[in-house]
Amino acid sequence: MKNIRNFCIIAHIDHGKSTLADRLLEYTNTVTHREMQAQLLDNMDLERERGITIKSHAIQMDYLLNGEQYTLNLIDTPGHVDFSYEVSRSIAACEGALLLVDASQGIEAQTISNLYLAINHDLIIIPVLNKIDLPGAMPEEVTDQIVDLIGCDRDEIIHASGKEGIGVPEILEAIVHRIPAPKGDPEAPLQALIFDSVFNSYRGIEVIFRIKNGSVRKGDKVKFMATGKEYIADEIGTLRLQQQPKDVVECGDVGYLISGIKVAREVKVGDTFTHIHRPSTAMIRGFEEVKPMVFAGIYPVDTSEYEELREAMEKLQLNDASLVWEPETSAALGFGFRCGFLGMLHMEIVQERLEREFDMTVITTVPSVQFTVHNTRGETLSVSAPSEMPEPNFIKSIEEPFINAQIISKSEYVGAIMTLCMDKRGMLKNQIYLTSDRVELQFSMPLAEVVFDFFDKLKTISRGYASLDYELSGYQESDMVKLDVMLNGDRVDALSAIVHRSKAYEWGKKLCEKLRELIPRQMFEIAIQAAIGQKIIARETVKAMRKDVLAKCYGGDISRKRKLLEKQKKGKKRMRQVGNVEIPQEAFMAVLKIN
Ligand code: GTP
Repeated sequence: MKNIRNFCIIAHIDHGKSTLADRLLEYTNTVTHREMQAQLLDNMDLERERGITIKSHAIQMDYLLNGEQYTLNLIDTPGHVDFSYEVSRSIAACEGALLLVDASQGIEAQTISNLYLAINHDLIIIPVLNKIDLPGAMPEEVTDQIVDLIGCDRDEIIHASGKEGIGVPEILEAIVHRIPAPKGDPEAPLQALIFDSVFNSYRGIEVIFRIKNGSVRKGDKVKFMATGKEYIADEIGTLRLQQQPKDVVECGDVGYLISGIKVAREVKVGDTFTHIHRPSTAMIRGFEEVKPMVFAGIYPVDTSEYEELREAMEKLQLNDASLVWEPETSAALGFGFRCGFLGMLHMEIVQERLEREFDMTVITTVPSVQFTVHNTRGETLSVSAPSEMPEPNFIKSIEEPFINAQIISKSEYVGAIMTLCMDKRGMLKNQIYLTSDRVELQFSMPLAEVVFDFFDKLKTISRGYASLDYELSGYQESDMVKLDVMLNGDRVDALSAIVHRSKAYEWGKKLCEKLRELIPRQMFEIAIQAAIGQKIIARETVKAMRKDVLAKCYGGDISRKRKLLEKQKKGKKRMRQVGNVEIPQEAFMAVLKIN
């Protein structure tokens, strides 16, 4: 155990975590040259396509230093805010963290938030000044920033380039020397913390764990403490590039367990497992509850796939502990699920994963934050779907969630950022100059104005230089109204939105215009109306298809038409029939695109 080191790599998005992880794996011969490919640990297709890390990935390396053999468990973590729950869970499995800072960018918003996460868990921090090969690198200036931020000595900061392989031996040595070996009692009753899990349709659910006390052997009988379920450890092992079965996983180590569990609900990330015969009495402190920021409905395009979708959601949740959901029904869409996400990117990724990994075609409804509504009967309701909003005359007051936002930027963009934040109902709280031309702005803002398109706007006005981090600060009373959408006179609950009264008229008008563009022409005319309560505030019309367009559908080569039909069926379109109108997925997101 004294030769085990557990560490994670944390940083702001794109500061080079996955690339540096590649170099560590190469240097320790964990992967052969033939197996090597860039950002090796980002093994999900989605991660490769988008060039971002979505999941934390654990991998074990052997490392020889001065004739001593060490076992290093590395966890590469995502950088984007929407996946910070992955980071926080990885941190709980480690004693130390490499904190990477891009030498050409300097400290950014998630450098700070991830550092605080690590410090709160008492992790030893190894600061790394990364990408020093870049011509735009500013080693002196960024070193100053790091020293200021973590209060370390200049010579504790390792200069590195994941791309060129600079600094790799120094980093590995520092991991051994600076990060302590795991504590824990190998003789005590088993306590293993489940920090991740994966659904595998052939082998059953794979559980990823870190042993705090005791050890586990193949064939042991174990009990999951939160669920009370008992299993036999059919296979245990450590995580190399492939899983490596072992007879025993020791105290302090990270490993996987397979025991034929098929039911997703039986596994809870954050749970502790122990031996049945010599059980531990205490669970390891699990993880903080996830606080979803955005809520939306997810519905099967084909209503008969509701049960299948439920199973898919359960399986996906195994691998995405930040996803929360419960069943809901919509007058327009039927049976589906109300889901909570950490942000819009998270929501997009969930939708994509349901489609790719579980072959589901789903519609996501208008996203919303969660409001607190006080009604005239003296009750307090949590409302995250516009359809749950009481009629205006039953509402006494509405509170909306506010955040503290930290924006770090070059000082030349301060003016533009202020204007943007004011437009989003933000209030400047503080302004701190980090260096002469880098500034941190702190705003209090309504979450609803930030989660949707704020980040893209911020990037645009700052030419990519500004970074954003935020945390919920509480609820404040706001003048919100429900904006209903009607198609041919019928209210479509899944299209309505909750907006601030000062913006309601403008939004109503723009929303109708956008919907007119997005809803395809059908056999009949479609009236689109926006309303607040009984009052119609905007109207647009989708004209009926013209006869000659229809005419083209008749005659012609039948086999060609069949092919077309099949093609259509295959790429089952994200369209939902509501009443007699077909609504495409984009229409449900129209409200996000009207600014
Ligand atoms: P997320 O996990 O999505 O937050 O990204 P990441 O921190 O893992 O960054 P990643 O390793 O994917 O690198 C981001 C980009 O920076 C890629 O285009 C890399 O090729 C580039 N990059 C990474 N390390 C270096 C480096 O040392 N020097 C240079 N010049 N480029 C680098």
